Amino acid sequence: MKIEFKNIIKSFAVKNNHDIINVLDDISFEVKNSEIFCLVGPSGCGKSTIINLMAGFIFPDKGEISMDNKLVNGPGPQRTVVFQEHAIFPWKTVRGNIEFGLKCKNLSKSKINDEVNCLLKKVKLESFADRYPDELSVGMKQRVAMARAFAVKSEVVFMDEPFASLDSQTRDILQEELLNIQIELKQTIIFVTHNIDEAIFLGDKIAVMSHRPAKIKEIIQVGYERPRSASIRNQPYFFELKNKIWLSLRDEI
Ligand SMILES: Nc1ncnc2c1ncn2[C@@H]1O[C@H](COP(=O)(O)OP(=O)(O)OP(=O)(O)O)[C@@H](O)[C@H]1O
Ligand SMILES: [Mg+2]
Repeated sequence: MKIEFKNIIKSFAVKNNHDIINVLDDISFEVKNSEIFCLVGPSGCGKSTIINLMAGFIFPDKGEISMDNKLVNGPGPQRTVVFQEHAIFPWKTVRGNIEFGLKCKNLSKSKINDEVNCLLKKVKLESFADRYPDELSVGMKQRVAMARAFAVKSEVVFMDEPFASLDSQTRDILQEELLNIQIELKQTIIFVTHNIDEAIFLGDKIAVMSHRPAKIKEIIQVGYERPRSASIRNQPYFFELKNKIWLSLRDEI
């Protein structure tokens, strides 16, 4: 699904006084079908606001957001969000959590079972299918959240710092798993991160945002083909990109 974010202006009223905080200052970008588009920028610049706007949870003051040329006017089944804090149901097992998205889809019981088993395998949780979230590590919980988001097979997935609370090894592995799943399901993914390595490893494009009121400072084409091997993290070009993005970002922090 193609996404167009056109001339978006967004401000918020500050509670308890009459101030207005200008967050997004005329932001435009386009995301192609099946592209992974990463957003980096200083804390508080409006990255989550962009996700909330695209998901249809909030609305712009000015400008238009469209998905495959249809205007976004509220949440829709073709769009799923994965947050930093794994939003999974503590009272459901791993299997129950993953099934949740599929149950509204009118599939037969055996089809649901097959799909859940397939996803459990993809996120390497087969042997934890009947466990509850409080028996899982942080990384495992985030795997469940990912599997549940992918279960519904929506065409667009918004990911707002989904791996931020993971240790760096688990994080690298989940990034690889995400790329493997995306190659198969071909979703369009908008991925917010503070981690430049993560943005380069995952992204086709990286938008660097300025401080608030935010503009898009530049959009960097990553240029690595898919599938990507973990070894690109050690290539000189990877470090070159990292340096370039950091120089752009550090002026804003
Ligand atoms: N519902 C809201 N009401 C009022 N102000 C808001 C609201 N949502 C966001 N803001 C403000 O908008 C600005 C941008 O917030 P946002 O959460 O989009 O930043 P961010 O780039 O995601 O930051 P971080 O990197 O820390 O997650 C912040 O100053 C925040 O206080
Ligand atoms: Mg945020």
